[in-house]
Amino acid sequence: MDKIQDTIDTLKVYNQTHIIKILEKLEGKQKTELIEQINKIDFHQMMELYDNTKKEIQIKENKIEPLPYLDKEKLSIEQKEELDMLGEVALRKGEYAVVTMAGGQGTRLGHIGPKGTFKLDVYGKGKYLFEILVENLKESNTKYDIIIPWYIMTSKENNAATKKFLEKNNYFGYPKEYVTIFTQGELPLLDTDGKFLIGKDMKIKEASDGNGGTYSSLRASGCLADMKEKGIKWIFIGSVDNALLKMVDITLLGMAINEGVQIASKSVVKANPHERVGVFCRMNGHPKVIEYTELPEKMAEEVDENGELKYGESHIMCNLFSIEAIEKISKEPLMYHSAFKANSYIDEEGKEIIPKEPNSYKFESFIFDAFEFFDDIAILRGKREDDFAPVKNREGVDSPKTAKELYEKYWERQNVIVNV
Ligand code: UD1
Repeated sequence: MDKIQDTIDTLKVYNQTHIIKILEKLEGKQKTELIEQINKIDFHQMMELYDNTKKEIQIKENKIEPLPYLDKEKLSIEQKEELDMLGEVALRKGEYAVVTMAGGQGTRLGHIGPKGTFKLDVYGKGKYLFEILVENLKESNTKYDIIIPWYIMTSKENNAATKKFLEKNNYFGYPKEYVTIFTQGELPLLDTDGKFLIGKDMKIKEASDGNGGTYSSLRASGCLADMKEKGIKWIFIGSVDNALLKMVDITLLGMAINEGVQIASKSVVKANPHERVGVFCRMNGHPKVIEYTELPEKMAEEVDENGELKYGESHIMCNLFSIEAIEKISKEPLMYHSAFKANSYIDEEGKEIIPKEPNSYKFESFIFDAFEFFDDIAILRGKREDDFAPVKNREGVDSPKTAKELYEKYWERQNVIVNV
């Protein structure tokens, strides 16, 4: 009884009295589960996140500068060989693991289900995004005579569906004992008054905490400990939705080793000032990515003395970390960004409300916000036509149609090279 009173007191303190009314109407399991959920919430953090939604994002431009990068295309044969050798040696020693961030749904694509289960219409028969990733890994395994441990991050929403899909497709031939599926965390949604939303299941509505949740989830799930046990030294973290993603790039790995950095990332040149990609820069002396949703227009359009975009190195979710870096980041809290979205909820009378306009905030941390914890990052500029075929929107830019074209053209070029 005292415990319930504690919960009620907390709800009062944090202005969540609408939930008390809901609690009064519930009985048995539903009531217990809601109380358990409430007791797990960090109210102080949630109120801080709510307060932050009222503040404007401050980007003090005078402390921002472009980041240097190495252009893979412009490396001399000797330079490239040297880096590749360093990377290859580490790879062959079995010190490399990859993580796929697959917590997202295919909503923007109009696909029902986990994004990785979307089938890209390539070569008539089509290939699932997960299948494309497996092919990329298998190619490296054969080339370097290794089996790379593959960790897949799902969300609570899509974990079961992802597992079922991969099982059904026999992991597309990837050795199952080298695949670990783990789940990322969630955070409650808040309405414009800072109140939690209640869902149809009579629980507080929560949503995935963004791909920045990868680090803490790697630790919490035991995957980080598993990597350490396996002697992993380098961890690649990539997205599920780039049909040309190279999860193993010995030049990138060699560059990280050569430069003695803890993080390396591959970029491509931004297609136009308003392309929906994050851009690299140095802010207050630390590496940073400014997300497209937060990049001031002036910065987006600024050009250098050669007429090139000053902040033109795009973040393509192709990031490499030392295990020490993951160790460190996974213990640090990351900042959260809020997104204002339409979310249905149950009102105090128990009626479902489906808003047409955005009514609530979703909080997400971003994978690249951890870059600021370090003094340096090594950036390798790749090539759009080799490295970046995002599958984001149903139509137009970054759609299945554009990704199919890029994917097929890339493989045509590779086959020509092989057959020469
Ligand atoms: C992302 C990058 C952006 C980059 C662009 C390149 C972030 C925040 N933004 O934008 O800088 O230029 O890709 O295409 O990373 N995911 C999870 N859990 C989540 C949210 C996302 O696993 O809670 C995964 C998705 O499954 C996907 C990836 O993260 O693999 C990208 O997520 P998304 O939110 O779609 O980012 P973009 O807006 O495309």
